Amino acid sequence: MKKLLSLIVALMMVLGIAASAGAITIGFSQIGQESDWRTANTDSVLAAVEAAGWEMVYSDAQQKQENQVQALRNFISQGVDYILFTGVVSTGWDEVLKEVNEAEIPLILLDRMPEQSTLDAIDYAAAFGGDFVEEGRRMAYWTANYVEKIGKADEELNVVILEGTTGADAATGRQEGIMEVLANYPNLKVIASQTGNFTRAEGQAVMESFLKAHDKIDILLAHNDDMALGAIESIKAAGKDPGEDIIIVGCDAPKTAFDAIIAGDMNATIECTPLYGPFVVAALEKLIAGEAMDKTLIHPEEGAFDAEGGIVYSADGRVTEKAADKIGERLY
Ligand code: AHR
Repeated sequence: MKKLLSLIVALMMVLGIAASAGAITIGFSQIGQESDWRTANTDSVLAAVEAAGWEMVYSDAQQKQENQVQALRNFISQGVDYILFTGVVSTGWDEVLKEVNEAEIPLILLDRMPEQSTLDAIDYAAAFGGDFVEEGRRMAYWTANYVEKIGKADEELNVVILEGTTGADAATGRQEGIMEVLANYPNLKVIASQTGNFTRAEGQAVMESFLKAHDKIDILLAHNDDMALGAIESIKAAGKDPGEDIIIVGCDAPKTAFDAIIAGDMNATIECTPLYGPFVVAALEKLIAGEAMDKTLIHPEEGAFDAEGGIVYSADGRVTEKAADKIGERLY
């Protein structure tokens, strides 16, 4: 009997090892947890991978590129089957991503992309990310349209910009889109533009310094809503009414921004969806099945939200939806 028992235990151990050796393992090098968006993005990917029954090796780089390089090298030495990667900045990845290629681990790029020369030099299986230039354009279109709507199209208005992390395509793209559209509206004058690193705390601090340096600020464009929400605190502390004295437009569209719009503290948010979990699972299922993937960067559908809803950019007829009507549907 004893012998039989130990035989069964030994058999179970062998089966267990075989099962774990057969499990699909995915390494995910995430930037950090700098914003509501990032938390929602991590949750979406982790939940989808878990539901698919695969194993996740997750690494939070705490906003440091060197931590991401180390994480990618760890994934290689651990022999993960697939790698998901979002780079904190767009440069400096050639060497380590070539190592990933040499290890023959299929790579899926998420959210922020490495610069084009890196994309040309490496192999990757699929790429999913926001259209950051377009998001910037939408922020500026919404603003110009609103200024016209409130009868200030002929007034000279001072704009300040809170930029995202320097060197991240989410920041350079949004800034490019904003400046491209604002060039058509000479009355909207950018008087200050500085990074707030996509965080609420830095958004608050930089806005405080903007308010000290400039008596007249009419518009704040924040590359993400966390910075806008931080800035709102500084605006209130300076005795001004956010959303009224200063028009505030952010980007991402998390529930916290909807709450601020409904409260009248913020005017609009342009969506950048963090919900990449289903995209990742669909791509991995194809790769596992041996199907070829298209390397084209796929942008999810994204909207825009304000207090009123309606047409915001007559140029191409895009519409905003009313935040209050949509809050119940907010998943992040
Ligand atoms: O890369 C996407 C950006 O990164 C989001 O707009 C921002 O909130 C996040 O931190």
